[in-house]
Amino acid sequence: MDEIKILAIESSCDETAAAVVVNGRDLRSNVISSQIALHTLYGGVVPEIASRKHIEKINQVIEQALADASMTLDDIDAIGVTYGPGLVGALLVGVAEAKAISYAKNIPLVGVHHIEGHISANYIENPDLEPPFLCLVVSGGHTHLVKVVDYGKYEILGRTRDDAAGEAFDKVARAIGLGYPGGPKIEKVSHEGNPAAISFPRAKIADGEYDFSFSGLKSAVLNYLNGCRMKGIEINQADVAASFQQSVTDVLVGHARHAIRQYHMNKFAIAGGVASNGVIRAAMEQMCREEGVTFYHPSPILCTDNAAMIGAAAYYDFVAGKRSGLDLNAVPNLKLGES
Ligand code: KG4
Ligand code: ZN
Repeated sequence: MDEIKILAIESSCDETAAAVVVNGRDLRSNVISSQIALHTLYGGVVPEIASRKHIEKINQVIEQALADASMTLDDIDAIGVTYGPGLVGALLVGVAEAKAISYAKNIPLVGVHHIEGHISANYIENPDLEPPFLCLVVSGGHTHLVKVVDYGKYEILGRTRDDAAGEAFDKVARAIGLGYPGGPKIEKVSHEGNPAAISFPRAKIADGEYDFSFSGLKSAVLNYLNGCRMKGIEINQADVAASFQQSVTDVLVGHARHAIRQYHMNKFAIAGGVASNGVIRAAMEQMCREEGVTFYHPSPILCTDNAAMIGAAAYYDFVAGKRSGLDLNAVPNLKLGES
């Protein structure tokens, strides 16, 4: 088999996605059905609604991914599916679908860790990228600074102690009246604001040099807003957004720079929904230039949830001989390195 064609499925949160990836890096199709508009009504993802929508969309999305790749299930060598972490009801839809196809067509099944997927998104557009490298994963549910030791082998250097970076974006966006999803909205209005207007904290953790904390920052923003309201001071939404975003950026860049120096790494990558933020990307790029390190980042569409990244991760698991049985189950709180 010189070409390994993987059909990948992702349904861990509010995107129903399927993709066909050949040999881990050659993306033949990438279909994403986003539920964002539906959840916007409620100010966040409603798990029950997400599960139901996944059921409605999954067959359609898979058929489209195969059609876009000019393939049928008979061409597929393995099925990769996210089995955790994520919303249990949402994950179950993808896992059940993948198992059904695997059983009916006798195609090997590979369960994929969602965060390993985010990291592996970097392989798709960077054919030269090989481990070892450092990767900062910043999404709605996770903030991890990871050393990618080898394909499928990860060492976690730091993680958030409370809110994930994306969660902080979403909560602050709600507090300043921007609504859901917060990240892209904060980025957009921040262009009109001054990032130095308000001095929000840059949290440091005494007993975890690579760990993050964003709940203090979120509270500082809420306190600032309350203070303004009490004093009758008009709130400049753009300044708050830009100053908050700058605080997150400084902390992320600071930790990344520290790890690059400490671990003597010459490759640094970012991943996850927050990695699509232009200000954060530009700051990371500049830091990498200063440190003499090659910077890798997926296109925005491969940063937020998608199945292409799951196909990339599944390929390296597949060639390492990893297979999942038909007893594969959703694991909502699956830890990185446990898969
Ligand atoms: O990776 P992702 O799609 O889903 C998870 O695995 O969590 O990340 C979604 C998160 C949300 O919190 C969203 O607000 C954030 O990524 N996000 C952004 C941007 N686009 C998405 N955060 C900051 N700037 C953005 N442009
Ligand atoms: Zn994700």
